Amino acid sequence: MTPSPEAAADGPLRVATVGDLHMGEDHTHSYRELFARISAEADVLALCGDLTNFGKTREAENLAEDLMACTIPAVGVLGNHDFECGQPDEVAKILHQAGLQILDGQAYEIGGVGFAGAKGFIGGFGRHMLSPFGEAEIKAFVQASVEENLKLESSLRMLRTERTVVVLHYSPVAETLVGEPPEIFAFLGSARLGETVDRFDGVRAVFHGHAHRGSPRGRTARGVPVFNVARPLLARETEREYVVVEV
Ligand SMILES: [Fe+2]
Ligand SMILES: [Fe+2]
Repeated sequence: MTPSPEAAADGPLRVATVGDLHMGEDHTHSYRELFARISAEADVLALCGDLTNFGKTREAENLAEDLMACTIPAVGVLGNHDFECGQPDEVAKILHQAGLQILDGQAYEIGGVGFAGAKGFIGGFGRHMLSPFGEAEIKAFVQASVEENLKLESSLRMLRTERTVVVLHYSPVAETLVGEPPEIFAFLGSARLGETVDRFDGVRAVFHGHAHRGSPRGRTARGVPVFNVARPLLARETEREYVVVEV
């Protein structure tokens, strides 16, 4: 994949984004046509995790095959489903070989815009965030959330661009979870991610997936637009299969 010639270093960049493709082993659903359409309409593709159903190599290979139809630069994060078979590195490698730049604490600059990201993790929001108190299991759980947040922080720190886009699987705000049962908000994202986004200047948009029944738009405390682009949500709430944001 090569950078689109339309993407001038200082001009607006059209970023097409979608999450939760949940590619299956049987490849009954192909994304070739979708990726071809996105390539004609946008300068960059950003995929927000749950790229496969169970994190099987066959599923990743199917998606890798479809990604051949993508002719613009593509970045993405893994989601919890991509970890299910215990081989996320293998899944990431297959997709990387198909041209997808995996954001797991790394950062990339495309057309003058920085792309930062990580899968993220759960933990809750506001006063109800889980704190590392008590059993070792609780502390390990909170530590996992802190570590994912540190990945996001290091990727943002690497960038020197004036404009930045953040790609996550889990949500950084509660607002884009509205529609999900409130009892599970804490399992759909973490306020730590939103707080980190707000510590950096120049973040123009945050994309995430995971909350299939959530809401499409929200904002961080500092006003950065947050887009929940889980594919089932887009299918339900919009006419589109992906969202294009100009940054
Ligand atoms: Fe999902
Ligand atoms: Fe998910």
